[in-house]
Amino acid sequence: MQNCKKIAAGLIADGLKKIYDLDSELDELAGMLEYPPDENMGDLAFPCFKYAKILRNAPPKIAAAVAESLSSDTFSDIAPAGGYINFKISNQYLKNAVLTSVEEKGEKYGSSEMGTGKTVVLDYSSPNTSKPFHIGHLGTTVIGHCLKLLHEFAGYKCISVNHLGDWGTQNGKQIVAFKRWGDKEYVESKGCDGLVELYVKFHEEAEKDPSLNDEARAEFKKMEERDPENIALWKWFLDVSLKEYEMTYKQLGITFDYYLGESFYSDKMPAQIQIMRDKGLLKLDAGASIVDLEPYNMPPCLILKSDGTSLYPARDIAAAVYRKNTYNFDKCIYVTSSGQNLHFAQWFKVMELMGYDWVDQLVHVPYGTVSIGGAKLATRTGNVVLLKDLFRQSIEKVTEIMEEKNPDLPDKEATAEAVGVGAIVFNYLYNSRIKDINFTMESALSFEGSTGPYAQYTYARTCSILEKAGEIKAEEAELTAQEEADVLKVLAKFPERVLQAIEEYEPCVIARYVIDVCTAFNRFYRACPILSVEDEGTKALRLRITKAVNTVLASALHLICMRTPEKI
Ligand code: ARG
Repeated sequence: MQNCKKIAAGLIADGLKKIYDLDSELDELAGMLEYPPDENMGDLAFPCFKYAKILRNAPPKIAAAVAESLSSDTFSDIAPAGGYINFKISNQYLKNAVLTSVEEKGEKYGSSEMGTGKTVVLDYSSPNTSKPFHIGHLGTTVIGHCLKLLHEFAGYKCISVNHLGDWGTQNGKQIVAFKRWGDKEYVESKGCDGLVELYVKFHEEAEKDPSLNDEARAEFKKMEERDPENIALWKWFLDVSLKEYEMTYKQLGITFDYYLGESFYSDKMPAQIQIMRDKGLLKLDAGASIVDLEPYNMPPCLILKSDGTSLYPARDIAAAVYRKNTYNFDKCIYVTSSGQNLHFAQWFKVMELMGYDWVDQLVHVPYGTVSIGGAKLATRTGNVVLLKDLFRQSIEKVTEIMEEKNPDLPDKEATAEAVGVGAIVFNYLYNSRIKDINFTMESALSFEGSTGPYAQYTYARTCSILEKAGEIKAEEAELTAQEEADVLKVLAKFPERVLQAIEEYEPCVIARYVIDVCTAFNRFYRACPILSVEDEGTKALRLRITKAVNTVLASALHLICMRTPEKI
């Protein structure tokens, strides 16, 4: 629709010039165009209200005068309605401009060069090692990866970093637990679950004997001092955790350019802390080093504990500086739960006070918190749902449905995984990211309505039609049915939806767009026979439309981390 908007803006500018001798900015006019709430009114609407004052005339009069002076092949109808000018896109334009543009650009349709020459670093997923990978991490993992894919589609060079939480008191706790109650073979055989058991045990025991917490801090301090025994244990825990995370990433089709956990920055922190000291930012508070943020209405940012060990913000600051120096990013995006809003606001402010003039290139993208049964997720109490279990259940459900509906499907296992995991991902991305979620298994595994399986099924439907059709060669007809036109109108919106999703850091724009395409296509499919229509020309045109839907759906689904099996 962007092109349509540009064309409409050009026409309006000419009209305003001719009738009122008024000069206008094309971009501004294009930006003023709206989508009317009711499609019967038109496809684009231009509000004339802001001209009332300058032209000393009533908006409906202006709309009527300008509309009357306009004509173009792009629009089949340009008519005033109250203070608006409504534009209806012509079938000719939909066929000759929209359809051909999808065909010519293929999988590049919707992409842009907005980011050419620019680098974006994306920090996402980043679970805390020795804790399980649970539904609380689904948001950062899929939103982060989706933002990476969107930025790549818009021409940016993207670098994804998994900032593993592998350096903190929790690792000290793990070491205490292992040294006291652990067994190497047991952990080897149980993987992450074995580590989690130890973590839970630690907390149970620390309830009774709080001195265990001091012990954990001491073990972490030894880690910071590079004690070989602790470092060896820590490395092993990390390997065990990573092995398991990677299985989940593989199911999601996600890879990272770098795994650089917080530990990686431990030797890069002192230089930053020195800068804070030199600038007089650090203050002692009960032995800990803090940056006072009271003038900015925030609680103090904790940099070092009283025993001199580093804290989370210090590691983030060191990491940001390292990334700037190493990748020279234009933007560094952090995707975390909104529970960390304050943390990011605080350390961004500290960096500003340290004199880094590129802080505004750091972008925190928060998403809503996830709870279960209204309660916060907590590894310690077992109030978590592990992603691997959720995926397994979803895949099992899909397998059951497939066995019943399509028992002869080739490649059943891979398809069940694509649909089962896709269902969970889609369900998550369909909502605005900032919305808090109260997780229930029923809604995660409900495949009714606007869901991943519905979208993947629609895609598979286009594949099967195209496969049956073979080569499309006949001379083709003009666009006549409303449902044909409606499909192309939705396809015309893809490029601007991609830009909107990037601007708002909002994958749900694409998930919702996918459903719009599916709805329009399925309406078309029901109203307009494709393979069985008699007229060869009409059949060819409908097949071209089907192929275009297939192209756009594939691109849009891939942008939201969904796979596209051709048969379901
Ligand atoms: N490990 C953190 C957590 O699980 C998330 C890290 C996000 N990235 C960052 N640079 N702080 O809560």
